[in-house]
Amino acid sequence: MNLDFIPASTRAAGLGAMMKGAGKLLRFIPISQPTLLVGPGASGRLGQAVAGFGHLKILVVTDAVIAKLGLLKDLTDALTAGGAAYVVFDEITPDAPIPLIERGIAFYREHGCDAIVAVGGGSSIDASKAIAVSIANPKKSLRSLAGYFKGLNTPMPVYAVPTTAGTGSEVTVAAVIADPERQSKLVIVDPRMVPKMAALDPSLCTGLPPHITAATGIDALTHAVESFVGNWATPYTDSMALTAVGLIFDNLRTACHQGSDLQAREKMLLASTYAGIAFTRANVGYVHAIAHQFGGRYHTPHGLANAIMLPHVLRFSLPDITDRLAALAVRARLGDEGESEDVLAQKFIDGVVALERDLGIPTHLASLQEADIPALAKAALHEAHTGYPVPRYLTQQDCEDLIRLVLPPPATGRAARNAPAPAAKAAAKKKTATRKPRVAKTSN
Ligand SMILES: NC(=O)c1ccc[n+]([C@@H]2O[C@H](COP(=O)([O-])OP(=O)(O)OC[C@H]3O[C@@H](n4cnc5c(N)ncnc54)[C@H](O)[C@@H]3O)[C@@H](O)[C@H]2O)c1
Ligand SMILES: [Fe+2]
Repeated sequence: MNLDFIPASTRAAGLGAMMKGAGKLLRFIPISQPTLLVGPGASGRLGQAVAGFGHLKILVVTDAVIAKLGLLKDLTDALTAGGAAYVVFDEITPDAPIPLIERGIAFYREHGCDAIVAVGGGSSIDASKAIAVSIANPKKSLRSLAGYFKGLNTPMPVYAVPTTAGTGSEVTVAAVIADPERQSKLVIVDPRMVPKMAALDPSLCTGLPPHITAATGIDALTHAVESFVGNWATPYTDSMALTAVGLIFDNLRTACHQGSDLQAREKMLLASTYAGIAFTRANVGYVHAIAHQFGGRYHTPHGLANAIMLPHVLRFSLPDITDRLAALAVRARLGDEGESEDVLAQKFIDGVVALERDLGIPTHLASLQEADIPALAKAALHEAHTGYPVPRYLTQQDCEDLIRLVLPPPATGRAARNAPAPAAKAAAKKKTATRKPRVAKTSN
């Protein structure tokens, strides 16, 4: 939908009203929640339960790192002890691309499976959901399943064991996969894809490297924040989002710096799940819309892309969400209820910047190219304005200016050639960090 011919103010008012209406309707769509098993050993307990469900053969979907670290053992021991047959497909790579999912689908058929246990981060869980929906709707390609409710038939059952604390995919209606041909990400949305049962087992997370712990933890924070400040928030999603934000500010530093702390790991898994429950109903916003473009174009890890954009989008949105950010600041214990909303809201943004700095998260994206920015902004705005209940509208120019703020620093010569426009300048002025910016190198 190209809306460029409509003045920005009219467009913002119209889209705002349309999105609010959509949010009211969506509240009536039932979204089930998985049975949650929580605590060390939960993956074994999930295996024990699933073995009793009478499946013919279970496909365990995971990645090679998880398999090599032995993180499947409790689950597979329990499946074997319970007499359940299973096969392991351990080829998932970050942001699983369409051809890989197709291999997973062929593997599922070849082995006559009838259920999936996903063990891993969002990439393994989302690949499993995509396999499950595709198997049930064999006449549809993965591309044609992308979007809302495109599969007629109910997906095969999926059970999930998240090993990162970030995406919340174990409770969400979405599967995000990569379309390498179009250098983009596809999102399949169907409430029937929500896993039936999930194990939040902190003992599987103790070996998660600090940079992945940090980035995935900020993904969970972004889910909580975007669902809380967006126009589809409800009292239920608010309670989930606030709880997640409190848990993240209390535990993410410890989980990152003392990876073997089981309590911090468990709290982060819970935070990620609560944030997932919030955003699968109240949705996300511009941070995700832009992060998805970075992921599709540069393969930037999802959490990292969110982390780099989060402070900038919050500064832009501040005038329309001051009260909401103030509430988050109190919950994150960054300020006291007696302080003014303006002061608290600023404290929340500063708190996010400080948290990301303590976690060693970079402030700039090395792979970002000035020449790509107009197209990245256009695609991000299309994604956001056709699905996300954002609290303050960005124009194409505003969005380009925000993205420009994360270009590699002037030393490279690029940022100097691209002086930020007024909206970005105002945002930049408020920046408190004075140290040399860190720059994210993307994985490929
Ligand atoms: N479905 C949703 O609702 C939803 C929400 C947000 C993000 N996503 C998608 O999820 C994907 C990202 O998932 P992710 O951030 O969890 O990362 P991931 O699944 O891509 O994993 C990242 C890396 O961490 C490693 N890893 C995972 N767990 C580990 C452990 N316990 N110990 C050691 N290494 C481990 C993996 O091997 C991989 O190399 C993206 O494609 C993103 O778009 C989906
Ligand atoms: Fe996310």
